Amino acid sequence: MTFENLLITNENGCATITINRPKKLNALNIDTINELHNAFKNLDEDAAVKTIIITGSGEKAFVAGADISEFAHFTVEEGEALARNGQEILFDFVQNLSTPVIAAVNGFALGGGLELAMASHFRIASDNAKMGLPEVSLGVIPGYGGTQRLAQLVGKGRAMELVMTAGMISAEDAKNDGLVNYVTTQEELLPLAMKLASKIARNSSVAISAAIKAINDNFNDGVNGFETEISEFGNCFGTEDFKEGTTAFLEKRRANFPGE
Ligand code: COA
Repeated sequence: MTFENLLITNENGCATITINRPKKLNALNIDTINELHNAFKNLDEDAAVKTIIITGSGEKAFVAGADISEFAHFTVEEGEALARNGQEILFDFVQNLSTPVIAAVNGFALGGGLELAMASHFRIASDNAKMGLPEVSLGVIPGYGGTQRLAQLVGKGRAMELVMTAGMISAEDAKNDGLVNYVTTQEELLPLAMKLASKIARNSSVAISAAIKAINDNFNDGVNGFETEISEFGNCFGTEDFKEGTTAFLEKRRANFPGE
């Protein structure tokens, strides 16, 4: 897999996607969004890949937003299509991926950058990171799911404040808000992401993808997450991973999950 704007590595089933447009602070242009879709899709389809880390290249930015130069002259129809297509092929796509996605926020995560981090399954950040949804300062609103996911993660009142002020918050404040799970130094960020990824990779990938679905359904309109949990729980009983997990426990050994 080679891409113009992404670097992909794979270490023992832990893949890392690095958005690589450092001169533009890794801003998400349409090409990069398309490449991200293909990269996530390919990695998700590869059974050997157990976790995916998404990060930005350089020391300054995770992603400084959607590429403003691309949409500055868009019409109403083009604006709506941009948001709809982006949500479908990247942001919702990542949220619903069956492979766990960890966002390692290594610097500015603004606008589409924070939206990409929020679409990931969870987030960790380096202590230099700054996060925010500055769209209203440009005369637009977040269009890649930001109004919805920020409120889900930090609560409605705090989301209202962050969106209305277009302000940036520090990594530490983001942790206090529940937006990121851990804050660490820049040097320790990827090692911490890898450590979390390898902890995840020891568990049943089939059960993890069922858990992602059930947790996501808590936030899907018109869907009863408890019902999803019940049926996904039941489905687990028919998997090879469940047989292996319970057998290994009873035999007092570590499970070696086939991922089926
Ligand atoms: N879209 C397009 N280009 C962007 C960008 C974006 N979202 N964010 C940064 N860039 C580009 C800059 O235009 C600049 O390019 P140039 O060198 O060709 O002029 C380059 O990245 C470096 O950015 P610069 O603004 O010079 O860095 P800085 O350290 O002074 O400021 C930020 C950093 C993040 C505060 C500032 O770049 C910024 O406010 N970016 C836009 C953030 C935003 O509003 N995002 C939401 C978009 S919907």
